[in-house]
Amino acid sequence: MSKDAYTLTSPDGSRTTELPVHKGTLGPDVVDIGGLYQQEGAFTYDPGFVATGSCDSKITFIDGKEGVLLYRGYPVEQLAAQSNFLEVAFLLLYGDLPNERELSSFDHSIRTHTMLNEGMLRFFRGFRYDAHPMAMLSAVVGSMSAYYHDTMDVNNAAAHEIFAHRILAKMPTIAAAAYKHTIGQPFIYPRNDLNYCENMLRMFFAVPAENYEIDPIAAEALDLLFILHADHEQNCSTSTVRMAGSSGTNPYSAIAAGISALWGPAHGGANEAVLRMLEEIGSVKNIPKYVDKAKDKSDPFRLMGFGHRVYKNFDPRATIIRDMCYKVLKQMGRTNSPLFELALELEQVALKDEYFISKNLYPNVDFYSGIIYRALGIPTSMFTVMFAIGRTVGWVAHWREMITDPKGKISRPRQLYTGAANRDYVAIDKRPKT
Ligand code: CMC
Repeated sequence: MSKDAYTLTSPDGSRTTELPVHKGTLGPDVVDIGGLYQQEGAFTYDPGFVATGSCDSKITFIDGKEGVLLYRGYPVEQLAAQSNFLEVAFLLLYGDLPNERELSSFDHSIRTHTMLNEGMLRFFRGFRYDAHPMAMLSAVVGSMSAYYHDTMDVNNAAAHEIFAHRILAKMPTIAAAAYKHTIGQPFIYPRNDLNYCENMLRMFFAVPAENYEIDPIAAEALDLLFILHADHEQNCSTSTVRMAGSSGTNPYSAIAAGISALWGPAHGGANEAVLRMLEEIGSVKNIPKYVDKAKDKSDPFRLMGFGHRVYKNFDPRATIIRDMCYKVLKQMGRTNSPLFELALELEQVALKDEYFISKNLYPNVDFYSGIIYRALGIPTSMFTVMFAIGRTVGWVAHWREMITDPKGKISRPRQLYTGAANRDYVAIDKRPKT
């Protein structure tokens, strides 16, 4: 191995191939295998992309061993303590913290893009009353490509800008419309004098017949959760957005693909699954039974909200959210939250268990977030939608980085084929009868 390249020797020892090594600002080097197929006729093989970098990115850095998460170089703990979601959104989109004028202009733009085309609002009437809000969210975001034709040109920088502001601003409005549909209440139009989270709370919980007072603690808690969910480098949904977008499809379709990927319980759907799991466990006395189930390889049950592909020590977001749980529950006068008590106890039992210790399984971002959402009155089926609202800015930042990358190509992995070898077609009357 030389300093700047790995040398790969063919199995029969007859050839060697130099594989260049690239260095990032932080994190492991990457071995560039892009030329391997041409030179050696072999693919690399890494199901689940456990050790594969798919792109260059300047947006987010994670050190899973040390529990470090940086947005554009800033530790998430500092942003959570000192910043706010819109400022973080600006940082992720544009690369630097905004000055006052930039922030005010960005804030104004987001506030004035919150309304939906009325035609899109009528979509919701077509969904069944019990449609899952994530199904509505992905469908309606995908349908934005049928309304906002001015931002469909992926090669137009001005269109990228309008798209970014538009989707960031409209996600809470779409989410609120989905929620109102599920509970049969009238849709509440956005109000531009309110900030991002205040507006969202009002659209979720106000009814035309009554005055609605925004709870500042609820707005603060949401703001924090959105900061913590804003980006997480090449996770499943973000990689999906990049991959879908790499074909040159319009950005609304790419984000809709990301929303669909987020829904799965191994990813953003875990926050909903955690709450359902805690309810199923029901009592501290049942914890050992469920921990045993999670350890039993013949049982598909997993401790939801535990484990992470990248974090192998702790998830810094989980630590911040656990602290926020204490604060929110205390300020809301709900110091006796049986679900929170159960979650704390479950964490303690799992953290002392040899199975979870040996596999480096710790609570992740989804373990405690649902307890805050529940305290704010947000129903369980909406939890992953909340994650999607926070993550939208990350998806947009990555889509833009991908689409403007001069090295960008359509994403097109290869495979290890294990199916039938070449065989001749058999006419139907010649095939075995049973
Ligand atoms: N409960 C019990 N066992 C687990 C768990 C768990 N939650 N997570 C991983 N394991 C075991 C797994 O069975 C495997 O054991 P073995 O080596 O004996 O086969 C080992 O730990 C490694 O797991 P893996 O599935 O190979 O790891 P991964 O990196 O592919 O998956 C994960 C990571 C997050 C999908 C997984 O830990 C999991 O399913 N966790 C529960 C779902 C969850 O909380 N997801 C949210 C992730 S964080 C937010 C987000 O991404 O949206």
